[in-house]
Amino acid sequence: MLAVAVLAAGKGTRMKSDRPKVLQSLAGATLVERVLASCRHLDPQRQLLIVGHQAERVRSSLAHLEGLEFALQQPQNGTGHAVQQLLGPLEGFEGELLVLNGDVPLLRPSTLESLLERHRASGAAVSLLTARLANPSGYGRVFTDELGQVEAIVEHRDCSEEQRRNDLTNAGIYCFNWRALAEVLPQLSTDNDQGELYLTDTVAMLSPAVHVEVADPAEIAGINDRMQLAQCEIALQERLRSHWMAEGVSFVDPASCTLSEGTRFGRDVLVEPQCHFRGRTNIGSGCRIGPGCLIEDSQLEDDVEVLYSVLREVSVAVGCVVGPFAQLRSGARLERGCRIGNFVEVKNSHLAAGCKANHLSYLGDADLGAGVNVGAGTITANYDGVRKHRTVIGAGSKTGANSVLVAPIVLGAGVTVGAGSTLTRDVPAGALALGRAPQLIKTDWSPPRG
Ligand code: UD1
Ligand code: CA
Repeated sequence: MLAVAVLAAGKGTRMKSDRPKVLQSLAGATLVERVLASCRHLDPQRQLLIVGHQAERVRSSLAHLEGLEFALQQPQNGTGHAVQQLLGPLEGFEGELLVLNGDVPLLRPSTLESLLERHRASGAAVSLLTARLANPSGYGRVFTDELGQVEAIVEHRDCSEEQRRNDLTNAGIYCFNWRALAEVLPQLSTDNDQGELYLTDTVAMLSPAVHVEVADPAEIAGINDRMQLAQCEIALQERLRSHWMAEGVSFVDPASCTLSEGTRFGRDVLVEPQCHFRGRTNIGSGCRIGPGCLIEDSQLEDDVEVLYSVLREVSVAVGCVVGPFAQLRSGARLERGCRIGNFVEVKNSHLAAGCKANHLSYLGDADLGAGVNVGAGTITANYDGVRKHRTVIGAGSKTGANSVLVAPIVLGAGVTVGAGSTLTRDVPAGALALGRAPQLIKTDWSPPRG
């Protein structure tokens, strides 16, 4: 049987934030979500999260996850004290307890798998992940005997100068035999620089204690401050981009682009510099994105081109061209072959195939039939100050430059709207609608003299 415990009760003082540290985000997911995700595939029987500082906030941020148990640590008197809170909930539990620090978000699932395998094969009381870090400052140091078994972990601040030269670092990830751990947990003392109960002290009380060195030290990076948060973001972004490059995506300037975990690409996508993909976003095969785009929670089918534009919560079908300088907002749905040009904003609107809005328009709460040509500066006036109303434009219609369509309004198919019109009434199919003052020409006129 396997139980997993994630330590997430600490305040994260060094972050200098009102937000609990484990709720800081990396590539759109919180640290604690990432840590939980890294062990999900091990299929643990129990998943416990130790919460304390702003416990309610941490708990509610994870309300969408099933099968998570919460243990409250109040006050937060160290990592050993945190795990002591499990003595009740895990009473009588037989098996391994995998303990993960809530601030170590780059762990690969395969690394945890091999830790667990090695632990089971060795019959150790505890197995822990280690790495040799170029700069181990701030981490606990792991001391081993001549057989390579772990004798003790000493925190950086409790180390002598000589001990600090040891670069074998504690990752904060442990696999314990729960029964053995439960016996020694009550014996922890606060005899250290911070006056806290250290989980790391249990290692010297348990035998055999073994360590598994990770191949890639970047995996065990712990996040205590904003510098480390930024470094982890860079590492994670590099990992995400490498993954997608291996799947057939080209990045012209990879380091200038950011991805979320929920971003998916088809093959032969070309991503130009300065593009940012967030949330759950799918980019179809053969798309060309950028330079300079932000695309969030959006679905793009194949062969779409987007240039210098912002797209959020939208869907764009095959072969559409968007931008430069367009904004597609929540609920914009473009069918195949639409063209949205510069300074055009589309919100909560459906554009059937082949519509064109090439310049300076606002389409909000509108339904456009196929092949509508939206003239430069056309505005759907959708808001009467209290409520939003819809504009319907029939297939094949054309609106002249600077038309204002005051919603609610329905234009039939094949309507032509004269330039500069303000329309407030419905227009039947095939008609020409003009809503502007007739032009006056005065020839017997001379400018005032002063
Ligand atoms: C800890 C380890 C250190 C290791 C490093 C790896 C101890 C004593 N030290 O140090 O050996 O090299 O992680 O990153 O364990 N937490 C609680 N309750 C508490 C205190 C902390 O739940 O009372 C949680 C925090 O929210 C955090 C995790 O435990 O997720 C680690 O705490 P932190 O204070 O960051 O430990 P480090 O000093 O980094
Ligand atoms: Ca830490």
